[in-house]
Amino acid sequence: MNPVATPSIQIDVRVSQRSERSLAEDVLDGLTRPFKELPPKHFYDARGSELFERICELPEYYPTRAERRILEDRADEIVAAVVPVELVELGSGTADKTHVLLDAMRRADVLERYIPVDVSESTLRACAERLCERYPGLAVHGVVGDIERHLSAIPEGGPRVVAFLGGTIGNFTPGSRRRFLRRVGRLLGADDRLLLGTDLVKDAHVLEAAYNDSAGVTAEFNRNMLVVLNRELGSEFDPQDFDHVAFFDPHHQWVEMRLRARHAHEVDIPGIDLRVRFGAREELRTEISAKFTRDRLETDLGAAGLALEHFYTDPQELFALSLAGPSAAIRRGGRAAAGSAGARARR
Ligand code: SAH
Ligand code: TRP
Repeated sequence: MNPVATPSIQIDVRVSQRSERSLAEDVLDGLTRPFKELPPKHFYDARGSELFERICELPEYYPTRAERRILEDRADEIVAAVVPVELVELGSGTADKTHVLLDAMRRADVLERYIPVDVSESTLRACAERLCERYPGLAVHGVVGDIERHLSAIPEGGPRVVAFLGGTIGNFTPGSRRRFLRRVGRLLGADDRLLLGTDLVKDAHVLEAAYNDSAGVTAEFNRNMLVVLNRELGSEFDPQDFDHVAFFDPHHQWVEMRLRARHAHEVDIPGIDLRVRFGAREELRTEISAKFTRDRLETDLGAAGLALEHFYTDPQELFALSLAGPSAAIRRGGRAAAGSAGARARR
């Protein structure tokens, strides 16, 4: 069935006015801990999103190319298995790879609506406009929000694929990853599927190069967090007072990104009435990026009430796309139990 002829864009904004407050709270909390850290969602202002786009094109940053390859190989198969009329995308960014899925949905003549969700309002708006032009008749309903807090802002509907690409799930700590997957699981009706992109465990040198490129783009992306703090909270961090550090932690199986103070110094952060002291070589963690095995993914999904149905990788097995649905137990006993009838009544 084809959608109405007029393109339509609707954007619901959940975070913009409140984002400054959430940044202030995160910074106060993170910079007063015994081991300083800041949550990675604050990387993505307009400049950060632009730098991330450049990271995706770096020779060392293989995840984007590998994930695109899997999508190109499998999109038709995924669309045939789910028959989704809409695509929800969490942390959609510029949605470059998403075209591969939308094209497959259009080929199957099922595409009606695209629902991108992202904290970055400028990125989301630009993406919505580009997609409306490229797919005439497509309804785009964007949500500017934090996927850890605003999943309920996603409009109801379906059958749908909920895509979470780019390995962004790896940027959550293990506890919040489980909590997040459980919430996503509850969002899925019996006919909906989660399409989850994850980077895989591999040689430490390959992993470390992906987060410490020779052109220094990742270093600039990492330091951009301090520029965001300066602008939003009036601080005077000098990004050049910090070195970019990225290493693979084999015990946790994640890559960690840190900023290391080149010398001891103090920084005022007027927006939260805080003066922070950094010792010489003291490190501030800005990101973890967890790397997965099929087993670990299956366990994580299972704990969240999701059953892994397909596990696709690229030929070099660098990256994986998992297709998962509500597990049978949940389908029988839970909200989706009334079958599609119950699920559709919501829709
Ligand atoms: N999906 C794209 C972009 C990945 S970059 C790709 O695969 O290339 C991560 C994206 O997630 C950014 O656009 C960032 O703004 C968004 N993001 C990060 N944390 C988020 C959060 N907590 N809530 C909503 N969006 C988030
Ligand atoms: N989701 C991406 C990843 O984990 C984000 C990312 C890539 C990133 N390179 C980075 C985050 C460098 C911080 C610093 O691969």
